[in-house]
Amino acid sequence: MKMSKALILDNLNEIKKIDKSGMLSFCVNAAKHCKNAVHIAEKVAVNYPKPKSIIVAGMGGSAIGGELLKDWARDTLTIPVEVCREYMLPAHADKGTLTFVVSYSGETEETLSIFLDAIKRNCMVVCISSGGTLLDFADKMKIPSVHILTGIPPRVALPYLFIPMLTILAKLGLVKGVKTEISEAATVLKQVCSENVPEKPLKENFSKRLAADICGTVPVVYGFGFYSSVTQRFKQQFNENSKVPSKWEVFPELNHNEIVGWEKAGKLASHFSAIIIRDKNEPEHIKQRIEATKELLSGKVAGIHEVWSRGEGKLAKMLSTSIIGDFTSVYLAILRGVDPTPVKTISILKDRIAKTELKERIVSELQSLVKKGKRC
Ligand code: PA5
Repeated sequence: MKMSKALILDNLNEIKKIDKSGMLSFCVNAAKHCKNAVHIAEKVAVNYPKPKSIIVAGMGGSAIGGELLKDWARDTLTIPVEVCREYMLPAHADKGTLTFVVSYSGETEETLSIFLDAIKRNCMVVCISSGGTLLDFADKMKIPSVHILTGIPPRVALPYLFIPMLTILAKLGLVKGVKTEISEAATVLKQVCSENVPEKPLKENFSKRLAADICGTVPVVYGFGFYSSVTQRFKQQFNENSKVPSKWEVFPELNHNEIVGWEKAGKLASHFSAIIIRDKNEPEHIKQRIEATKELLSGKVAGIHEVWSRGEGKLAKMLSTSIIGDFTSVYLAILRGVDPTPVKTISILKDRIAKTELKERIVSELQSLVKKGKRC
């Protein structure tokens, strides 16, 4: 007999049986991980001059921290921040570019390629990784590196892949108020996590309810402004944790194309659920757009749900919404009877790509640079 959604999500044994690697425990301890990430980054000496631009290079779970950084810094930092998910850096990257090379495993082909490119262009490189080829070469080349804890999925390591960049930018005198923002974010995260822990029953647990409501549909996540990265993170977490297709869009752009897609979608629309990220201080023009869009979608998509940010600072607001995406995606996985941790398809793909031997060629170029005594 099929168990009801509440019965599944409120059954701690059932949760443990499906969430074999304990993905939920990382969500629950998010605040603690943010604080640890600061301690780790504070120990890293970065003696670079002020850069003229910042690039965060990485893929997937290692790139999303760059998106959060870009959103967080957008209206205060006066130099451009770009996220690079490519094999090569953009043409403007040079010795004035601070390049964060981020790869949780330190083995990702595209990221190693960027690392090589950044060294060749004499960029100011900082690596963030748990080890692998990346940290091996970074150490040999005396490149400042943030060594983060090993043995967890990259997407779980988000606090360690993101927060150190804020700490380093603060150290370089590029941004202010980071400590205060992290401290508020940790307090807010702790509260939000306590409200969404597995022990809280579905009727009092926002993430469990959201997962139950969207189960069986494709989540479409809408955000705006500095929630763009958070919106993207929701989508990625639904893909990787819940193993479902998902999409994300942001206001106001989505009002210029996306909404037309629902016009004649007919029955197809009923297979989608909309999740909208909201902020009590959202600008009036965005509020109007959200309300108008809700009216247009109403009765078409399976449901319209809202996730309201918490806290006052930008970081608290971003992380308090992002964590709801983490919890919801794991609860959705549990409802679907799917272990949230393994990402089999990514591993299959990486194995296939390995046959091209591009990574070996990158490593061999890096070895020659080391022999020539190349360092930062
Ligand atoms: O979440 C994942 O496992 C992926 O998105 C990885 O982050 C991505 O494949 C890149 O790997 P890494 O983070 O080890 O560089």
